[in-house]
Amino acid sequence: MRIIRRKSELRDLTKSWHRAGETIGVVLTMGALHDGHLSLVKAARSRADRVIVTIFVNPRQFNNPEDLAKYPKTEDNDARMLGPLDIDVLYVPEAEEIYPTGFSTTISVSGVSDGLCGDDRPGHFDGVATVVTKLLLQTDADCTFFGEKDYQQLQVVRRVVADLDLKTEIVACPTVREDDGLAMSSRNLRLGAAAREMAPVIGRVLESAASTIRQGGNVAQALTTASQALMAAGFDAVDYFELRSDPDLQPMAAASRPGRLFVAAWLNGVRLIDNLPVQVELRASADARKTVEPV
Ligand code: PAF
Repeated sequence: MRIIRRKSELRDLTKSWHRAGETIGVVLTMGALHDGHLSLVKAARSRADRVIVTIFVNPRQFNNPEDLAKYPKTEDNDARMLGPLDIDVLYVPEAEEIYPTGFSTTISVSGVSDGLCGDDRPGHFDGVATVVTKLLLQTDADCTFFGEKDYQQLQVVRRVVADLDLKTEIVACPTVREDDGLAMSSRNLRLGAAAREMAPVIGRVLESAASTIRQGGNVAQALTTASQALMAAGFDAVDYFELRSDPDLQPMAAASRPGRLFVAAWLNGVRLIDNLPVQVELRASADARKTVEPV
């Protein structure tokens, strides 16, 4: 595994690979790697001839400077974790390689960026869309791998790639969970012991609300009950608990077409997010048809 920090060096390598007819799979990260990231790397390894993992803590996607300052920086440990996975390059660009002096371009995606984390973290998805575009171009990626845990991000990236005619194929990979059901995230490291013990409640409450909705239960009622359950369990605040259509992420008052249930909630100063697919089961759907809103 070669560690590269300069885009010119990376470009020479990717050109030679492409000249030799090899494909390049890329996993984009901000470091602080966990098994969720490693599952993306394994997916890339099984699909592409060459694999690049990037680590860049992108300041433009943090709407809160404190959050950026606290973001764990663990490059040596990350490199150790990647060691056994047989990747070709760990690309850790200097900030100047991504945002050179005078950098003035922002990629802004409407529609799928609206609402959910787009409302609570102003500018976040502009930062994500801009850096992802730059990194996919710098790595000359044929395919890239995104976890479904950040489902809104996945849809934003899909939009960018489609709208800007980027050649990269986006591969969605399932959320990886701890044994107790908590979705893996670099932020989990900041929870502290007591909050870490409490955190899996978010997954259980989400699953319970999704199950109610799948069986044709009232959506508004299920969402209110779920938010109340999180607060009762000791969460500090719920940013959102919402049902949205999939893949366009429009608000839905009933599960009348394929959708996803999304939650973001605060625990001990850490914002946790999770989501699950929801589609009304056929039997329940027939029973509930009278109460399902037309689309
Ligand atoms: O999901 C992340 O870790 C980041 O948003 C990404 C895609 C690496 C862009 O900085």
